[in-house]
Formats: sequence, C-alpha cells, structure tokens
Amino acid sequence: MERTLCIVKPDGVRRKLVGEVLRRIEGAGFRIEGLRMLRLNREQAELLYDIHLGKPFFEDLVKFMTSGPIVAILLEKENGISDLRDLIGETDPSLARRGTIRGDLGGTKQENLVHASDSPLRAEKEIPIFFPKTEGEYKSAGEVR
Ligand SMILES: Nc1ncnc2c1ncn2[C@@H]1O[C@H](COP(=O)(O)OP(=O)(O)OP(=O)(O)O)[C@@H](O)[C@H]1O
Ligand SMILES: [Mg+2]
Repeated sequence: MERTLCIVKPDGVRRKLVGEVLRRIEGAGFRIEGLRMLRLNREQAELLYDIHLGKPFFEDLVKFMTSGPIVAILLEKENGISDLRDLIGETDPSLARRGTIRGDLGGTKQENLVHASDSPLRAEKEIPIFFPKTEGEYKSAGEVR
C-alpha cells in the first residue's frame, strides 16, 4: 500500500468541486485516510512547492495557494502515487486528457484544481505538512480513521 497526498486547491473550493474531486478519488479505488480543510500560510505553501523556488511562476503560485481555504486529503492505495497522478491529468487543464480531473473540470495552468505528490520522496515530505502523525495513529480511539 502506498500513501499519497492530494489537495483541492483554492479554486476547487471556490468552484464547489470538493465533492466531485472526492467522488472521483474514491471511485478510482483510493481509501481516504485523512481529510482537513485549512488555509495555507506562506511558509506552508513555500514548503509544499519548494522545488519550484526561483521559477517565474513561484510567487504567483504561493499567492494563489494562500488565497483561500484548501482541502488536504491523505490517501492510500496500491500504486497510489502514480495512479493519483494519472487521475488528475496534465498540469495544464487544456492539455489534460478527457476522463482526468483537470481534463474534465478545466481551469488554467495555475488554477488547475488539484495537487498530487509526484514521487515517494515528495509524498514523504508533503504528507507531514498536513498530517503530522505517523502511520496508524489516525486509527486510534476517538478518531474515525
Ligand atoms: N507555467 C506556469 N504558469 C503558471 N502556473 C504554473 C506554471 N507551471 C506550474 N504552475 C503552477 O504550479 C503548480 C506546480 O507545478 P508542477 O510543475 O509541480 O505541476 P504539477 O505537478 O502538475 O502540479 P502540482 O504540483 O500542484 O500537483 C501547478 O500545478 C500550477 O498550479
Ligand atoms: Mg508538482
């Protein structure tokens, strides 16, 4: 089993597409392990996208990601990291295949609805930004997964 992180970005929340994204994720066989709605601060957004630091779109990306609430989703599935990338589609929604979240629901190259970890290393780094407990702890008494 592989854990990965998905985020419904501020545009997805504004467009009321949280339910639609969750429906597609569950329909594709993922198990939801954790779910949080929050507004990112600058430090968290910079950490999430630290690999893009210095790129021309970085500053706008941080502004966008902190512009409103997001929904962070901790997911589990066999081959989950690459399967989630396939499910969300290409970065630019106008180039994303039909049947993918970005391809079907649209948006712009920046406001592209969802984020997904793109490698085991990134998943390991990104998950604790939102879900700091270790594996298994979310199943303790008092918490429904
Ligand atoms: N050329 C660009 N112009 C504007 N925004 C961009 C551009 N390239 C990337 N972005 C924004 O930065 C995010 C991170 O870019 P990245 O190359 O990691 O794409 P991705 O892996 O498909 O997206 P994400 O990391 O959010 O899952 C994109 O999802 C998009 O919101
Ligand atoms: Mg990326």
